[in-house]
Amino acid sequence: MPSASYASIFVAALLCLPPTSTAAPSIPSSQSQPVTRGTLKRLKRATSAVDEPWLRGHRDYLKNKYHAGSDSTSPAKRQTYGSSQLFNYGADYAYYTSISIGTPPVAYDVLLDTGSSDLWFVGEDCPTCATSGRPTYSSTGSSTFNTTGSAPFGISYLGGDVNGTTAHETVSMAGMSIDNQSYGVIHIFQEGSLPKIVSGLLGMAWRPLAKLGVPWWMNAASKYQWAEPLFAVALSREVTNPAPLASEPGGSFTVGAVDPSLFTGEIDYIDIPDGYNTWWLAPLTGITIGGSVLQIGSQLAAIDTGTTLIGGPPTVVEAIYAQIPGVQRGTGDSAGYYFYRK
Ligand SMILES: *[C@@H]1O[C@H](CO)[C@@H](O)[C@H](O)[C@H]1NC(C)=O
Ligand SMILES: *[C@@H]1O[C@H](CO)[C@@H](O)[C@H](O)[C@H]1NC(C)=O
Ligand SMILES: *[C@@H]1O[C@H](CO)[C@@H](O)[C@H](O)[C@H]1NC(C)=O
Repeated sequence: MPSASYASIFVAALLCLPPTSTAAPSIPSSQSQPVTRGTLKRLKRATSAVDEPWLRGHRDYLKNKYHAGSDSTSPAKRQTYGSSQLFNYGADYAYYTSISIGTPPVAYDVLLDTGSSDLWFVGEDCPTCATSGRPTYSSTGSSTFNTTGSAPFGISYLGGDVNGTTAHETVSMAGMSIDNQSYGVIHIFQEGSLPKIVSGLLGMAWRPLAKLGVPWWMNAASKYQWAEPLFAVALSREVTNPAPLASEPGGSFTVGAVDPSLFTGEIDYIDIPDGYNTWWLAPLTGITIGGSVLQIGSQLAAIDTGTTLIGGPPTVVEAIYAQIPGVQRGTGDSAGYYFYRK
């Protein structure tokens, strides 16, 4: 990780099954998988890598999104864990990873999103998908592509809707391979729903939010006996890098274990409140600003790797920024945002 200091890596371990007393194993630095790259990543200087439609979409999406408030069937013989490299796009703008699909496997970059539960790729026959030059998904040549019972679907996201058709395929990541994973192939796509560089979205939240069937991670938790009942995300920061590339290696995603080299101290595990296994929600009662605690009542906060923003109810956000001198309120397209310049 050449340009990210460990001190600036944020580690979140998301516990998804009843804890066992297994000690943390050490993680191999990378898990090599026999995959064919779908594309080569071209690295460009990040001049202004930020996708404006996507950013605007996120604001509107966040406003709506958070208003509402397993056992192993056939455990594998040995306890499993694995890891996958993350990439930091646009200097802390979005985080993505590579996932492989089909037989033989082809790798595509997908946004890693703990704030939704479905997996989809933009299809090659999608006229609006390729306009930004992102690689599109093709099922051609795969012997495990399965369209039996496929059905049209639509999902509203971020900056727009996506519409497509469901299918089933073999989908692998972090050394874990799921046969018959349900996913979507997108035919109609609004540009604001995904950063330009990636070909799809991997939803890592819970089943009740899913439109396309059981999320990949829940299938992986059923099929494999994870060494620890969790997955973990480490996100790098590029704030101190004077000339970040459009894509930098940026942290890691681990399934079944936490990488002990990425944190010190104890992990504070917090229960998702009963009946709320939708997003990865944690109760939030106060926020420390400049050393003093602002009580915000009893809120549930979602840990969402798919957004670049911190969002909250307008009254809470206003109360936070009221404590910070020099903050400016956005207007026009930026309405609802607050700006702070050092
Ligand atoms: C293909 O998909 C259908 C529909 O979901 C499913 O019932 C069937 O078992 C799948 N076939 C294989 C070989 O996985
Ligand atoms: C696409 O999906 C959205 C969200 O579900 C839906 O509102 C819209 O009608 C769909 N459009 C088409 C052309 O199917
Ligand atoms: C494939 O998944 C579907 C549901 O998505 C399920 O109905 C079917 O039984 C599965 N088939 C196999 C072979 O596992």
